[in-house]
Amino acid sequence: MSKWFEWAALALVCAAASAWAGERYPGIGRAATAEEVRAWDIDVRADFLGLPEGEGSVARGKELYLAQCVACHGGAGESNAFFTPLVGGTTADDIRIGHARALADADIAKRTTFMRLPTLSTLFDYIQRAMPWETPKSLPPDDVYALSAYLLHLAGIVPETFVLSHSNVADVQNRLPNRHGMTTDHGLWPGDDGIGNGGIPDVQAERCMSDCRPVHGN
Ligand code: HEC
Repeated sequence: MSKWFEWAALALVCAAASAWAGERYPGIGRAATAEEVRAWDIDVRADFLGLPEGEGSVARGKELYLAQCVACHGGAGESNAFFTPLVGGTTADDIRIGHARALADADIAKRTTFMRLPTLSTLFDYIQRAMPWETPKSLPPDDVYALSAYLLHLAGIVPETFVLSHSNVADVQNRLPNRHGMTTDHGLWPGDDGIGNGGIPDVQAERCMSDCRPVHGN
Protein backbone atom coordinates (compact mmCIF):
# COMPACT_ATOMS: atom_id res chain seq x y z
CA MET A 1 0.00 0.00 0.00
CA SER A 2 1.45 3.41 -0.94
CA LYS A 3 2.08 6.07 1.72
CA TRP A 4 -0.41 8.61 0.31
CA PHE A 5 -3.13 5.96 0.33
CA GLU A 6 -2.44 5.19 4.01
CA TRP A 7 -2.64 8.90 4.92
CA ALA A 8 -5.83 9.36 2.97
CA ALA A 9 -7.37 6.37 4.73
CA LEU A 10 -6.24 7.70 8.14
CA ALA A 11 -7.68 11.15 7.42
CA LEU A 12 -10.98 9.58 6.46
CA VAL A 13 -11.13 7.52 9.68
CA CYS A 14 -10.33 10.60 11.84
CA ALA A 15 -12.99 12.68 10.10
CA ALA A 16 -15.58 9.97 10.63
CA ALA A 17 -14.61 9.57 14.31
CA SER A 18 -14.88 13.26 15.11
CA ALA A 19 -18.24 13.51 13.36
CA TRP A 20 -19.36 10.54 15.44
CA ALA A 21 -18.20 12.18 18.69
CA GLY A 22 -21.02 14.61 18.23
CA GLU A 23 -21.35 18.35 18.30
CA ARG A 24 -20.58 18.91 21.95
CA TYR A 25 -16.87 18.10 22.15
CA PRO A 26 -15.77 17.94 18.52
CA GLY A 27 -12.66 15.89 17.93
CA ILE A 28 -12.71 14.24 21.37
CA GLY A 29 -13.64 10.60 21.72
CA ARG A 30 -16.72 9.07 20.15
CA ALA A 31 -20.25 8.29 21.16
CA ALA A 32 -20.54 5.10 23.21
CA THR A 33 -22.27 2.27 21.42
CA ALA A 34 -25.56 0.90 22.72
CA GLU A 35 -23.75 -2.27 23.71
CA GLU A 36 -21.12 -0.34 25.71
CA VAL A 37 -23.82 1.62 27.54
CA ARG A 38 -25.68 -1.63 28.32
CA ALA A 39 -22.55 -3.11 29.92
CA TRP A 40 -22.43 -0.25 32.47
CA ASP A 41 -26.15 0.40 32.87
CA ILE A 42 -26.76 -2.40 35.35
CA ASP A 43 -28.16 -0.63 38.41
CA VAL A 44 -31.17 -2.23 40.08
CA ARG A 45 -33.40 0.28 41.83
CA ALA A 46 -35.42 -0.08 45.00
CA ASP A 47 -38.61 -0.62 42.97
CA PHE A 48 -36.69 -3.30 41.02
CA LEU A 49 -36.44 -1.22 37.86
CA GLY A 50 -33.39 -2.58 36.03
CA LEU A 51 -33.64 -6.07 37.54
CA PRO A 52 -32.68 -8.68 34.93
CA GLU A 53 -34.93 -11.70 34.47
CA GLY A 54 -33.70 -14.95 35.95
CA GLU A 55 -33.85 -17.32 38.88
CA GLY A 56 -31.60 -19.19 41.27
CA SER A 57 -32.14 -21.73 44.04
CA VAL A 58 -30.70 -21.74 47.55
CA ALA A 59 -28.95 -25.04 46.68
CA ARG A 60 -27.24 -23.58 43.60
CA GLY A 61 -26.34 -20.47 45.60
CA LYS A 62 -24.66 -22.64 48.22
CA GLU A 63 -22.46 -24.28 45.57
CA LEU A 64 -21.46 -20.90 44.14
CA TYR A 65 -20.93 -19.41 47.58
CA LEU A 66 -18.65 -22.24 48.69
CA ALA A 67 -16.61 -21.89 45.49
CA GLN A 68 -16.39 -18.10 45.24
CA CYS A 69 -17.29 -16.32 48.47
CA VAL A 70 -16.48 -18.50 51.47
CA ALA A 71 -12.81 -17.54 51.67
CA CYS A 72 -13.65 -13.97 52.60
CA HIS A 73 -17.16 -14.11 54.09
CA GLY A 74 -17.02 -17.40 56.06
CA GLY A 75 -19.12 -20.58 55.77
CA ALA A 76 -22.29 -18.93 57.10
CA GLY A 77 -21.61 -15.32 56.08
CA GLU A 78 -20.38 -14.73 59.63
CA SER A 79 -16.72 -13.85 58.98
CA ASN A 80 -15.49 -10.39 59.86
CA ALA A 81 -11.95 -10.96 58.60
CA PHE A 82 -12.41 -8.59 55.65
CA PHE A 83 -15.59 -6.68 56.40
CA THR A 84 -18.49 -6.75 58.84
CA PRO A 85 -20.33 -10.11 58.64
CA LEU A 86 -23.06 -10.51 56.03
CA VAL A 87 -25.40 -12.55 58.23
CA GLY A 88 -26.36 -12.47 61.93
CA GLY A 89 -28.03 -10.28 64.53
CA THR A 90 -31.60 -10.58 63.20
CA THR A 91 -34.56 -12.55 64.58
CA ALA A 92 -37.83 -14.07 63.34
CA ASP A 93 -39.59 -11.22 65.14
CA ASP A 94 -37.55 -8.66 63.14
CA ILE A 95 -38.71 -10.39 59.94
CA ARG A 96 -42.31 -10.01 61.12
CA ILE A 97 -42.14 -6.33 62.03
CA GLY A 98 -39.46 -5.10 59.61
CA HIS A 99 -37.14 -3.52 62.18
CA ALA A 100 -33.80 -5.05 63.20
CA ARG A 101 -34.07 -4.32 66.89
CA ALA A 102 -30.44 -5.10 67.70
CA LEU A 103 -29.52 -1.88 65.86
CA ALA A 104 -30.91 0.06 68.80
CA ASP A 105 -28.87 -1.92 71.31
CA ALA A 106 -25.75 0.08 72.12
CA ASP A 107 -24.02 -3.02 73.49
CA ILE A 108 -24.12 -4.74 70.10
CA ALA A 109 -21.54 -2.78 68.14
CA LYS A 110 -21.48 -5.16 65.16
CA ARG A 111 -23.80 -4.27 62.27
CA THR A 112 -24.23 -7.15 59.83
CA THR A 113 -25.47 -6.64 56.27
CA PHE A 114 -28.88 -8.15 57.00
CA MET A 115 -29.30 -5.99 60.11
CA ARG A 116 -28.97 -2.91 57.92
CA LEU A 117 -30.35 -3.90 54.52
CA PRO A 118 -33.66 -2.09 53.82
CA THR A 119 -34.00 -3.08 50.14
CA LEU A 120 -33.37 -6.43 48.46
CA SER A 121 -32.40 -4.62 45.24
CA THR A 122 -29.30 -3.34 47.06
CA LEU A 123 -28.11 -6.87 47.83
CA PHE A 124 -28.69 -8.00 44.24
CA ASP A 125 -27.12 -4.88 42.76
CA TYR A 126 -24.06 -5.05 45.01
CA ILE A 127 -23.29 -8.70 44.29
CA GLN A 128 -23.87 -8.21 40.57
CA ARG A 129 -21.68 -5.10 40.43
CA ALA A 130 -18.90 -5.74 42.92
CA MET A 131 -18.51 -9.41 43.90
CA PRO A 132 -16.54 -11.61 43.97
CA TRP A 133 -13.97 -9.02 45.03
CA GLU A 134 -11.29 -10.24 42.58
CA THR A 135 -13.61 -10.62 39.55
CA PRO A 136 -16.44 -8.07 39.79
CA LYS A 137 -19.22 -8.19 37.14
CA SER A 138 -18.38 -11.80 36.34
CA LEU A 139 -21.63 -13.33 37.63
CA PRO A 140 -24.56 -13.89 35.23
CA PRO A 141 -28.04 -12.94 36.57
CA ASP A 142 -29.02 -16.52 37.50
CA ASP A 143 -25.91 -16.82 39.69
CA VAL A 144 -26.69 -13.50 41.39
CA TYR A 145 -30.23 -14.73 42.10
CA ALA A 146 -28.84 -18.00 43.50
CA LEU A 147 -26.26 -16.27 45.73
CA SER A 148 -28.86 -13.82 47.00
CA ALA A 149 -31.20 -16.76 47.72
CA TYR A 150 -28.49 -18.55 49.70
CA LEU A 151 -27.66 -15.48 51.79
CA LEU A 152 -31.39 -14.91 52.42
CA HIS A 153 -31.59 -18.50 53.58
CA LEU A 154 -28.59 -18.13 55.89
CA ALA A 155 -30.37 -15.12 57.39
CA GLY A 156 -33.49 -17.23 58.05
CA ILE A 157 -35.63 -15.26 55.59
CA VAL A 158 -36.40 -17.99 53.02
CA PRO A 159 -36.49 -21.82 53.36
CA GLU A 160 -33.84 -24.21 52.05
CA THR A 161 -36.02 -25.20 49.07
CA PHE A 162 -36.55 -21.61 47.92
CA VAL A 163 -35.95 -20.38 44.35
CA LEU A 164 -35.51 -16.61 44.09
CA SER A 165 -36.61 -15.06 40.79
CA HIS A 166 -37.63 -11.76 39.20
CA SER A 167 -41.27 -12.66 39.86
CA ASN A 168 -40.98 -13.19 43.63
CA VAL A 169 -38.39 -10.57 44.70
CA ALA A 170 -41.14 -8.20 45.82
CA ASP A 171 -42.58 -10.85 48.20
CA VAL A 172 -39.13 -11.46 49.69
CA GLN A 173 -38.62 -7.70 50.05
CA ASN A 174 -41.59 -7.80 52.44
CA ARG A 175 -39.69 -10.21 54.70
CA LEU A 176 -36.42 -8.27 55.07
CA PRO A 177 -35.66 -7.85 58.80
CA ASN A 178 -34.86 -4.14 58.49
CA ARG A 179 -37.18 -3.15 55.63
CA HIS A 180 -38.77 -0.35 57.67
CA GLY A 181 -35.50 0.72 59.22
CA MET A 182 -34.37 3.31 56.72
CA THR A 183 -35.11 6.93 57.48
CA THR A 184 -34.34 10.20 55.72
CA ASP A 185 -35.21 12.17 58.84
CA HIS A 186 -31.66 13.02 59.83
CA GLY A 187 -28.88 15.48 59.20
CA LEU A 188 -27.23 13.63 56.34
CA TRP A 189 -30.00 14.86 54.04
CA PRO A 190 -29.97 18.52 53.10
CA GLY A 191 -33.46 19.37 54.32
CA ASP A 192 -34.69 20.45 50.88
CA ASP A 193 -37.81 19.08 49.24
CA GLY A 194 -39.15 17.69 52.49
CA ILE A 195 -36.22 15.29 52.89
CA GLY A 196 -34.10 15.37 56.03
CA ASN A 197 -34.22 17.58 59.07
CA GLY A 198 -32.02 20.40 57.87
CA GLY A 199 -28.76 19.15 59.33
CA ILE A 200 -29.50 18.20 62.96
CA PRO A 201 -27.11 15.31 63.79
CA ASP A 202 -28.75 11.99 64.62
CA VAL A 203 -25.98 10.70 66.87
CA GLN A 204 -24.38 12.04 70.01
CA ALA A 205 -21.03 10.81 71.16
CA GLU A 206 -19.26 11.54 74.41
CA ARG A 207 -15.53 11.30 74.53
CA CYS A 208 -14.33 8.35 76.58
CA MET A 209 -10.83 8.46 78.06
CA SER A 210 -10.80 5.39 80.32
CA ASP A 211 -12.61 2.03 80.73
CA CYS A 212 -14.19 2.51 77.32
CA ARG A 213 -16.48 0.02 75.62
CA PRO A 214 -14.64 -1.93 72.88
CA VAL A 215 -15.38 -0.54 69.43
CA HIS A 216 -16.14 -3.97 67.93
CA GLY A 217 -18.39 -6.03 70.14
CA ASN A 218 -16.31 -9.17 69.79
C1 HEC B 1 -11.35 -11.69 48.21
C2 HEC B 1 -12.34 -11.42 49.23
C3 HEC B 1 -13.81 -11.46 48.85
C4 HEC B 1 -14.49 -12.42 48.13
C5 HEC B 1 -13.94 -13.69 47.48
C6 HEC B 1 -15.89 -12.01 48.12
N1 HEC B 1 -16.03 -10.86 48.83
FE1 HEC B 1 -17.79 -9.91 49.21
N2 HEC B 1 -16.76 -8.39 50.13
C7 HEC B 1 -15.39 -8.35 50.30
C8 HEC B 1 -15.03 -7.04 50.83
C9 HEC B 1 -13.61 -6.58 51.13
C10 HEC B 1 -16.23 -6.31 50.97
C11 HEC B 1 -16.38 -4.87 51.42
C12 HEC B 1 -16.18 -4.00 50.20
C13 HEC B 1 -16.36 -2.52 50.40
O1 HEC B 1 -16.94 -2.07 51.37
O2 HEC B 1 -15.91 -1.77 49.51
C14 HEC B 1 -17.30 -7.20 50.55
C15 HEC B 1 -18.64 -6.86 50.58
C16 HEC B 1 -19.67 -7.72 50.22
C17 HEC B 1 -21.07 -7.41 50.37
C18 HEC B 1 -21.65 -6.10 50.92
C19 HEC B 1 -21.64 -6.09 52.41
C20 HEC B 1 -22.24 -4.81 52.99
O3 HEC B 1 -22.92 -4.89 54.03
O4 HEC B 1 -22.03 -3.73 52.44
C21 HEC B 1 -21.76 -8.49 49.90
C22 HEC B 1 -23.29 -8.66 49.87
C23 HEC B 1 -20.80 -9.45 49.43
N3 HEC B 1 -19.54 -8.96 49.65
C24 HEC B 1 -21.12 -10.67 48.86
C25 HEC B 1 -20.17 -11.53 48.28
C26 HEC B 1 -20.51 -12.69 47.49
C27 HEC B 1 -21.92 -13.18 47.21
C28 HEC B 1 -19.31 -13.25 47.09
C29 HEC B 1 -19.11 -14.45 46.20
C30 HEC B 1 -19.69 -14.38 44.89
C31 HEC B 1 -18.24 -12.43 47.64
N4 HEC B 1 -18.80 -11.40 48.35
C32 HEC B 1 -16.90 -12.71 47.49
C33 HEC B 1 -14.50 -9.35 50.02
C34 HEC B 1 -14.80 -10.48 49.28
